[in-house]
Amino acid sequence: MRFLDRRIHLITGKGGVGRTTVTAALARAAARHGRRTLALEIGDPDGGYSPLGRLLGRETLSETPARLSQHLSVAHLWAPVGHEGFLRSVLPGGPLIKSALKSRALRKFLDAAPSFHEMGVFFHLLLLLEATREDGQPEHEVILIDMPATGHTLALTGLPDLLLGLIPRGPVAKALRRGQAFMNNPAQAAAWVVTLPEQLPVTESLELLDGLARTQVPIGGVLLNRYPDDPFDPEERAALDAFMAQHPAQGGLALKRIDQAQGAADRLRAGTDALIVSLPEVWVDDPGPVLEAQLHAAMRRTP
Ligand SMILES: Nc1ncnc2c1ncn2[C@@H]1O[C@H](COP(=O)(O)OP(=O)(O)O)[C@@H](O)[C@H]1O
Ligand SMILES: [Mg+2]
Repeated sequence: MRFLDRRIHLITGKGGVGRTTVTAALARAAARHGRRTLALEIGDPDGGYSPLGRLLGRETLSETPARLSQHLSVAHLWAPVGHEGFLRSVLPGGPLIKSALKSRALRKFLDAAPSFHEMGVFFHLLLLLEATREDGQPEHEVILIDMPATGHTLALTGLPDLLLGLIPRGPVAKALRRGQAFMNNPAQAAAWVVTLPEQLPVTESLELLDGLARTQVPIGGVLLNRYPDDPFDPEERAALDAFMAQHPAQGGLALKRIDQAQGAADRLRAGTDALIVSLPEVWVDDPGPVLEAQLHAAMRRTP
């Protein structure tokens, strides 16, 4: 299953590992492959400054997708849009929405807070996934989400199961099942764990992979970001090690980083069967273009 054949990609991982940078690079790469691509951030559109938007060329985002180029758009996923969109889809006309909020079944549903927020986000995503153009084709062929912190991610991916347990029938359940048909389907969705080639991040990413698997979200793979360049072949390295042993000098730190990265990558490989894609550490102000070029090429071959 190639990256571009799937509709939804959840970009997850601990803060600071490069989630937003990688999401932006993936979005640009998918758009360059000619897919109508939508990059999403979860949050409040009045929150002002958007890190994802800024990397893509927009300081602020709204809940309505903004076109950045022929194939690339960006927006905020915003819970109230989902709440309202959901009510509109089950009820004709505005005034009914008020009375619907009084319905017992719906109240029970809303009382399942704190899932209320996730539910709104989930339904907003569903609206975007199901949006079609006049020719019946999806408005957004590939949707990428810069996911929030780990706990929120698992709350979102675990939401359908949780709510279907509470309310197995009715329009809410129906919509949740439509969402599951996307989110839990390996032909449609993939979660990607961004991490760094260091011990603690690797441990955390293995835990996150377990958590994601428990919520039945298909795993796309691990994006091992900021992998340091190793310019030496084994022979050169052996010579260098011999030299360094006698002259413990400054270069030792860089070599140690390379070795640590290798050790962390080995541990990652031992801990998961998931696909692992390494992305280089890029020593320029904006690593975006280099990552985009690599991901663009990888999308052709990535299973
Ligand atoms: N491959 C990379 N090489 C060099 N710097 C990177 C790379 N990926 C991300 N960064 C830098 O790391 C910092 C954090 O990245 P960001 O995408 O904001 O992380 P997150 O969204 O996970 O918090 C940024 O300054 C970004 O430019
Ligand atoms: Mg970020």
